[in-house]
Amino acid sequence: MEQVKVVLQDREIPKKWYNILADLPTPMKPPLHPGTGQPVTPGDLAAIFPMNIIEQEASSKRWIKIPDEVLQKYLLWRPSPLYRAYNFEKLLNCPVKIYYKNEGVSPAGSHKPNAAIPMAYYNKVAGTKRITTETGAGQWGSALSMACQMFGLICRVYMVKISYEQKPYRRMMMNTWGAECIPSPSNLTQAGRNVLAEHPDSPGSLGIAISEAIEDCVTSKDTKYALGSVLNHVLLYQSIIGLEAQKQMKKIGVYPDVVMGCCGGGSNFAGIALPYVCDKIHGKDVKIVGAEPSSCPSMTKGPFAYDFGDLAKTTPLLPMYTLGHDYVPAPIHAGGLRYHGMAPIVSHLVRENFIEPRAYDQLKTFDAGVKWARTEGFIPAPETNHVLAAVVDEAMRAKEEGKEKVILFNWSGHGLVDMSSYDAYLSGKLQAYELPDHEIDRALNAIKNFPKP
Ligand SMILES: Cc1ncc(COP(=O)(O)O)c(C=O)c1O
Repeated sequence: MEQVKVVLQDREIPKKWYNILADLPTPMKPPLHPGTGQPVTPGDLAAIFPMNIIEQEASSKRWIKIPDEVLQKYLLWRPSPLYRAYNFEKLLNCPVKIYYKNEGVSPAGSHKPNAAIPMAYYNKVAGTKRITTETGAGQWGSALSMACQMFGLICRVYMVKISYEQKPYRRMMMNTWGAECIPSPSNLTQAGRNVLAEHPDSPGSLGIAISEAIEDCVTSKDTKYALGSVLNHVLLYQSIIGLEAQKQMKKIGVYPDVVMGCCGGGSNFAGIALPYVCDKIHGKDVKIVGAEPSSCPSMTKGPFAYDFGDLAKTTPLLPMYTLGHDYVPAPIHAGGLRYHGMAPIVSHLVRENFIEPRAYDQLKTFDAGVKWARTEGFIPAPETNHVLAAVVDEAMRAKEEGKEKVILFNWSGHGLVDMSSYDAYLSGKLQAYELPDHEIDRALNAIKNFPKP
């Protein structure tokens, strides 16, 4: 019998998150206040985040202790198992060993609760009563709904309309965990009303939903806002994935040649990758690959620029790869990857050549996802299919090069509430979509007057 899983005991769970800001060889550009053009101050963010989270956003401490209350909730499903994908390896017939972290074992079905739990906890400690947020595919919204329920907070989620319609079960999950879920753009906010006035049939986007959630937050009492990806503190909380993987790989005496993840705002990818980027900074030979959709290729086609995180320009200006804050991605099925920008930390590391980005079309990703389901059993989320396409690609490269490789990747979530997308794929209704060059020109135009990083 061959060992398929490496499982850590509860007591072996990492007790600290890892903060890459302590190890960056070159400093990151700061986020800017759009009015003054100066770096944002903690006070600028205080209207939307509690101070304990703002401190973490700016912290350059290498290790940050995970509070006991958060660890206790993490133990419901963490440490997540590390698997060896023997059956998928056999199908590919390439000289690779493939290992993956299964983040689909969380109650909400993805990595998102890793960040939702600490956010709800820190808000509770700071006296917040209600949290607003946005969600794409519904994974983040459902994770935060669960976390808010656990810590006794009210939660309202603005869900991108196309996903709200494609994925009704996610809304039902949010409702079951006691949260309210609103299709965005909505009539509840000025930001939503502005979009609807111009585009009554708008499918929505994460950029629009973020604007609505922030507006709701700043115009309501005792309310704060939570973002499910992109920002430094979210990537910090997700580092538990990579820290566990390092312990698990050490137990079996294996070190990966390639570490991979799919990229929406960058949080699950950063979660597995950043502890390995730390190794790379300190001289280890490891390739780190982020997979994004070719319909929303911020890292592979967008410029590195200062841009807003949302459509209504309510966030600070973030230094990142971006397709422009007003970019509304094609309604592909991987709703969680339809974001115009990329986490500033991930963007910085791409720029400094520590991370290699690649883009994949949705047909290729579903092809890989179906092959995975038919060999390994677990049905991946459409977002996760992007990293699977990258894994197939990497395995084929290993064969061409005649090199043996160990691949480690993050299996970010299951697709059991995304079956309509599989139905569309299996019945031949899914389209390939590549972002045309004129869209890139438009992106550059939308941000041409912003400060340059
Ligand atoms: C399963 C899954 N994977 C990946 C993502 C992408 O988000 P991020 O890049 O922040 O990990 C999402 C977002 O909703 C998701 O639900």
